[in-house]
Amino acid sequence: MLKIEHLCKSFGGLAAANDVSLHFLPGSLSAVIGPNDAGKTTFFNLISGAFRPDSGRILFDGEDIAGVSRSGIVRRGIGRAFQVASIFPSLTGEEALMGKPSGLLLDEPSEGLAPLIVQRIGELLRTLRDMGITVLLAEQNMHFCLGIATEAAVIDKGQIVYRDTITALRTNTEVKQRYLAL
Ligand SMILES: Nc1ncnc2c1ncn2[C@@H]1O[C@H](COP(=O)(O)OP(=O)(O)O)[C@@H](O)[C@H]1O
Ligand SMILES: [Mg+2]
Repeated sequence: MLKIEHLCKSFGGLAAANDVSLHFLPGSLSAVIGPNDAGKTTFFNLISGAFRPDSGRILFDGEDIAGVSRSGIVRRGIGRAFQVASIFPSLTGEEALMGKPSGLLLDEPSEGLAPLIVQRIGELLRTLRDMGITVLLAEQNMHFCLGIATEAAVIDKGQIVYRDTITALRTNTEVKQRYLAL
């Protein structure tokens, strides 16, 4: 179980994570969706130990891992695939699966890829979820998330502005128009 409590991180005067609280159940496939600069990568940087939060807690299986080094996070079983245009080779290349993670963070895995490849990534993520790995996606592409995730959070300007099932988000026109320009 990954439980984020009141996480804050600012750069200068800019709050990239502003009181973020979210929890993810073991074996769930969840999406953090938001526009460019919303704070998705910052959120992953905080969880994966790349950034130390200004305040807040990151509880993983009951232990506060906020500020733990990246290698310490990996040792605890949280793997990460970085945001690059072609994440697929690194996924298949085991980089993200080293040490048999119990949790996996994927930063915009669909970005810039052809629809057929995106579909394959979706299948791969479902397979990982079925293996019991807790999968957390950061995405701008809500349509990709609709097909594979069960839980959704919408992030905007460092704040979680919506949290529900992906099915509920699908029919929430207001949230989609306001934050996702759909
Ligand atoms: N290392 C950093 N130094 C300064 N500002 C940063 C840094 N990382 C992110 N930011 C800022 O934080 C905000 C959120 O960025 P980011 O988390 O990359 O958003 P997203 O991944 O949703 O596009 C942006 O305004 C970005 O410029
Ligand atoms: Mg990003």
